[in-house]
Amino acid sequence: MQQVTTLASGVCMPLVGLGTYKTRGKDLIHSVVKAALQAGYRAFDTAAVYRNETEIGDALKQLLPEFGLEREDVFITSKLSPQDHGFERSLQAFLFSLSNLQLTYPTVFIPWPGCRKIKLSDDALNQYLRGQSWRPLESIHKSGKVRAIGVSNYTVGHLEDLLKTAAVVPHVNQVEYHPHYLQKGLKKFCDLKGIHLQAYSSLGTTVEVSPLLQDPTVLRIASRLSRSPAQVLLRWATQQGVSVLPKSTNTSHIAENIQLGFNLTAEDLAELSGLSTSQKYAWDPSTVH
Ligand SMILES: NC(=O)c1ccc[n+]([C@@H]2O[C@H](COP(=O)([O-])OP(=O)(O)OC[C@H]3O[C@@H](n4cnc5c(N)ncnc54)[C@H](OP(=O)(O)O)[C@@H]3O)[C@@H](O)[C@H]2O)c1
Repeated sequence: MQQVTTLASGVCMPLVGLGTYKTRGKDLIHSVVKAALQAGYRAFDTAAVYRNETEIGDALKQLLPEFGLEREDVFITSKLSPQDHGFERSLQAFLFSLSNLQLTYPTVFIPWPGCRKIKLSDDALNQYLRGQSWRPLESIHKSGKVRAIGVSNYTVGHLEDLLKTAAVVPHVNQVEYHPHYLQKGLKKFCDLKGIHLQAYSSLGTTVEVSPLLQDPTVLRIASRLSRSPAQVLLRWATQQGVSVLPKSTNTSHIAENIQLGFNLTAEDLAELSGLSTSQKYAWDPSTVH
């Protein structure tokens, strides 16, 4: 049975979802979604810019009945494109994502605090537009068309700005979070405000050699527990109540990444959290004012 977390919207979200950044192509997506459902995944993460929403929607439509599942049994997250900031664009982008996914009740996030083609340092305009982007999501949530709404890559500063005018506090903030990039202040702020922290790039992104998967401390703990380094990194997050979105197109990795029914000791958790090298493996939202 998969572990879940209850969001402030009252909805239960699985702690492990499948990441799909760079997973493209109808056949590959069909087989990856099938392997994930088979392994027990009930959550999937996509985004308009991943250009795979339609294929994920198609695959789920075909596969859910095969697994005896209803649409309500899976949790889908999509993110609007950074070019779709502002009230009208954000609303249209949501409707477009909804029709691409061919699904009801996805969870939608504002993906990035900055707006495409606007200077990162233009704080007044970026701040105004991202506030505007949030309004339609609040209305859509009120109407019951989505089960939760959230943001991604928001720093404490971005969240503080948004909370000054938001009627709905974001239910989730999806950010880079792993033992090499421990955002303690952000985690504390989100906990205080009831915003669920969701980690991405838990395995160090898609690179030839991931420094996270090769970290000697991770390797040592994995060997002692007879688990894989990926499982140790993912469990480090879920044991703190942080959800994860491991991305894989490899069937055995997909299965392994959701098998997190073990506990790290308090010493393991402290040691992993103590690694923090402030090493980011994805983009840096702190450059957006
Ligand atoms: N909101 C945002 O701005 C944002 C940014 C980045 C990511 N995300 C989301 O988070 C998801 C995950 O992050 P990510 O794409 O950066 O990558 P990630 O999950 O950190 O790492 C993916 C890489 O790890 C490998 N891998 C997976 N399981 C493994 C295992 N058990 N053992 C060894 N290697 C393994 C994968 O290769 P194989 O395919 O060979 O397994 C792939 O190369 C994304 O797909 C996306 O959905 C969101």
